[in-house]
Order: sequence, then structure tokens, then C-alpha cells
Amino acid sequence: MKICVLPGDGIGPEITAEAVRVLKAMNLGCTMEEAPVGGAAYRAKGHPLPDSTLQLAKDSDAILFGAVGDFSLDTLPRELRPEQAILGLRKELNLFANFRPAIVYPELVQASSLKPEVVAGLDILIIRELTGDIYFGKPRGIHTLPNGEREGFDTMRYSEGEIRRVAHVGFQAAAKRNKRLCSVDKANVLDTMQLWREVVIEVGKEYPDIALTHQYVDNAAMQLLKNPKQFDVIVTGNMFGDILSDEASMLTGSIGMLPSASLNEKNFGLYEPIHGSAPDIAGKNIANPLATILSAAMMLRYSFGLGAAADRIEAAVKRVLAQGVRTADIAEAGMATVGTTEMGDAVLAAL
Ligand code: IPM
Ligand code: MG
Repeated sequence: MKICVLPGDGIGPEITAEAVRVLKAMNLGCTMEEAPVGGAAYRAKGHPLPDSTLQLAKDSDAILFGAVGDFSLDTLPRELRPEQAILGLRKELNLFANFRPAIVYPELVQASSLKPEVVAGLDILIIRELTGDIYFGKPRGIHTLPNGEREGFDTMRYSEGEIRRVAHVGFQAAAKRNKRLCSVDKANVLDTMQLWREVVIEVGKEYPDIALTHQYVDNAAMQLLKNPKQFDVIVTGNMFGDILSDEASMLTGSIGMLPSASLNEKNFGLYEPIHGSAPDIAGKNIANPLATILSAAMMLRYSFGLGAAADRIEAAVKRVLAQGVRTADIAEAGMATVGTTEMGDAVLAAL
């Protein structure tokens, strides 16, 4: 088990350090090697995803990823911006299936901005397609029209094959859970999404015991706030999944709690918290490392088949929450808070 550790920018190094400590403490015999990515890699090597980093990722059995993004590099040409590192890794490694679970821990019900009765017990899984859609579609660019005005354009596109394979992932995930799959699209307006719906319905014929429903993305955004417990598994495209997963994170109380797994056909995976680099709180030892620690648990479960070890990490996280240990993002008013490393200490102690 060779793990490639890519801390990246902002709070990335602080939160991955805690997940690395947890993995080491588990004594599973995995080796870890670190490489720069994102803005950190641009500064060190002139490119957000240097060849040496990509090669290390390819030579590993799984990737633990922190976050990328650095406002001060936003004026670079797009291909050199930090975000290109994560987009490049997803594309190069064909990590098309992105699992973003949103679970409400009983201790954090009060941290959600929604009423406790709306979110208590929530356990949903968003499966986001990750290597297609308007994120990667060509042509794209900014050009000048004959009248001298500039025009920006991007292309939303999905092939049948791309839709079919992520639909299968959605149905199979639902089969292991409560057997309900909601496909989110915008078939009422976009041709790409009409094809999405047709293909999902076709694939659904192979899974007669899964209850398949469809929602338009605008309605899904509303339903997530109105009655999130109606959902079991949601499958959707790259851009809609980006937006809905941030929204779903707030149901759980904090985006600092949400892990993710991005997998290819062979279950090779990149594991990352969904929250991003949070430059405003970087280097202050206040970021919540739990999403990254929970991402490491997902790695053990999905890439290494170590379900029991993953359970142990998740149980340790639940225990520290039950003990009342809180970083600022998940603390109720008046509660004492701990920093990033102290939260890591508490998880280690619980382990
Ligand atoms: C995410 C992030 C990324 C995305 C950014 C950093 C490119 O928002 O993983 O959700 O848009 O996919
Ligand atoms: Mg996002």
C-alpha cells in the first residue's frame, strides 16, 4: 500500500498532516511519499501538476489530497492556476466517479443551519461525475465578436459511455444502501441532459430493484433544503454535483466534515476533503482536519478493502464528537474550541 500524499495549498498541509498521523498510528504497513501540487508546486517547480508529481501519483496505490487554490495566483494563465492540478489528476487518472457522502452526526445537529428535525439522522450520498461535462468540454474560451465585444463560451457535453458508467456506479451504490437513486439533470432545457436522462433510464432496466427517480437540478437544490431525507443516493453531472455537494455539506453543519473519494474503474482512488484550501484560515491551526481524516478512512475502505480499519477511524471521529471536542467551524455558541493539531491528538487518543 503505497500512498501518494499531496498536501497542496492553504490549509492543505495542516489537515493532511493530521490524516497522515492517523494512518501511521493504525500500523497498517503502508508507505507514504509526499509531493507538491497546486500553487505550492507552481512556486516550487513552475507548474501546478509537475510531471514528477503526476508520476508519483501514477506509481501509487492511492492518493491522499489536501486542497489547491491560491488567490494570489488567479491572474496566471488558466493552465498554470492551482485548480488545474486537481482537474489534471482527475482527468489523467480517469477518476470519473466522485463519492461525496453527507452524514449528520447526532452531536452536530445543532451546527446545521437547518432545523434539527429536518437534518437529524441524514445520510445521503452524492455521486458526481468528475471527468466530463462543461468542466472539460471543448471548444471553450474568450473571443472577440465582430462588434468588438468579448464573448466567453464553454461547452457542456456528455457521451453515452460517460453517462452509462457513472449511472452504473450510482445504481450499484444504491443497491448497497436503501435502494433509491435520484438522477439530477436539466433535461427540460439542455440536450446534453436529455441524453443523460435517457441513458440513466436505460441503465436502470438492469437494476429492477432500485427505485429510480429524476429531478431537475433547480428543484433538487430546493428539495435538499426542504426535505433532504427523501434522498438516498443522488447521481449527477460534474457541474451540478459540484454545486449540490457544497449545498449538502451545510446540512451536516460544516463543510469541514465532508470527505470524498474519486475512483476509476479499477477502484484506484484520490481521497480529499471537499472543502478546498480556505486561504483565509491557512497557517493558523484552526482548520478542521476531520474531513481529511474521514477521507483517509474512505481510502482504506475503497482502495485497500480494509473496511474494519476504516470503521475504527470513523468510530474514533464519532467518539471525539461525543466527547465534545470541537474545532471552531462545528462548535456551538459558548463551547470551547480546539485547533487542528489538537483535534488530530483527540482522534489519535480515541483510536
Ligand atoms: C471541488 C472543487 C473543485 C471543483 C475546484 C477546486 C476545481 O470545487 O472539488 O468541488 O470545482 O471540482
Ligand atoms: Mg466544489
